[in-house]
Amino acid sequence: MEEHHVLDRLISRRVMSMDASGIRKVFDLGATLADPINLSIGQPDFPVPEPMRAAAIKAIEDGHNGYTVTQGIPPLQEAIWAHLGETIGWDGPTSDLGLLVTSGTSGGLLLAAMALLDPGDEMIIGDPYFVMYPQLGPLTGASMVTCPTYPDFRMTAERIEPLITERTKAILLNSPSNPSGVVLGTSDLAEIVQLCHDRGVMLISDEIYDEFTFPDAHEDGVFPSPARLTRELLLVRGFGKTYGCTGWRMGYVAGPSWLINQMAKLQQYTYVCPPSMAQWGVIPSFGLEIDDVLQEYACRRDIVVNSLEPVTRVVRPGGAFYCFIELPQQLGQTATEFAERAVRHNVLTIPGSVFSERDTHLRVSFAVDREKLQAGMEILSELMRDPNA
Ligand SMILES: Cc1ncc(COP(=O)(O)O)c(C=O)c1O
Repeated sequence: MEEHHVLDRLISRRVMSMDASGIRKVFDLGATLADPINLSIGQPDFPVPEPMRAAAIKAIEDGHNGYTVTQGIPPLQEAIWAHLGETIGWDGPTSDLGLLVTSGTSGGLLLAAMALLDPGDEMIIGDPYFVMYPQLGPLTGASMVTCPTYPDFRMTAERIEPLITERTKAILLNSPSNPSGVVLGTSDLAEIVQLCHDRGVMLISDEIYDEFTFPDAHEDGVFPSPARLTRELLLVRGFGKTYGCTGWRMGYVAGPSWLINQMAKLQQYTYVCPPSMAQWGVIPSFGLEIDDVLQEYACRRDIVVNSLEPVTRVVRPGGAFYCFIELPQQLGQTATEFAERAVRHNVLTIPGSVFSERDTHLRVSFAVDREKLQAGMEILSELMRDPNA
């Protein structure tokens, strides 16, 4: 059968309406370079801590290679509850509060969307957004309503409120954010929590970068999570970014039992269970300190901000390892055009259109060593100063 015929007749409208061209273009361009300064990377550049590697290997050797219960193995459930108790005061499991270990944070987000959204429903997401969020629309038949957050990338109750309709089921927050690294403070979060409560809308908090928050964005010494203010939300977290094990596909969701139970049912029929050896592997993570890593990443964040502030407006990231940089308007170039120029100078970045309805910003990842980062910043500043360089 010819490809266009197959696409037309056999492939679902759902998948045909999903567009992967933006990110694919970046990878295609990158593949043409022998040794690029790669500032497009979405995972940390340090090895998985030894106790975690050892626990995963031991699990395989000990024969933990079969299916597990869909909720996740009991020792991991216990470790997560202990962590939630200590950090946000959630003392589950209770009859109202549940926990499900998921196949990555993405797995948790997909199950949440599948459990909450019907065709015609609406979910509010910030713009710029993590690339998966808009795709939850075609995947569920619901509409993803974007909440523009330029120029400071803050989701606030004031920005969200006018977008709520009677079809709104959920609001998806992401702090620290991908692609901007912005961390919301407790006062903004409290207003959003109150808004969701008043309007009967589910709050989903994607906190995959929770531990990856720099001390200067902490409040009272901790990462500001809306989960410290309410239990009426779905907490979505992961291990991949914090411990450098993105390929292990490990995350978890915690929140009201009425939602977690439906998500567990969906997981039973889809992912079945998260990878068995990876569940054992992440248990030691709760005893690990990552202060050194955070310190290193905060230095790299400063390299990016200090290098680019003289040429353009930069919103200082409080967490994660990205900065979303506005291109100087006088350049007269879209971010896609600029990213293509950068490739010609051996630097890989991701244009804003991949994360946004706008194409005015550039995502720079600082998950590379300082030397490469500094070299990349020099090239990007020069390209921003001189449109013909
Ligand atoms: C905000 C955000 N949420 C979720 C994910 C997905 O994470 P995981 O690899 O755990 O599925 C990412 C990965 O880049 C992310 O940036």
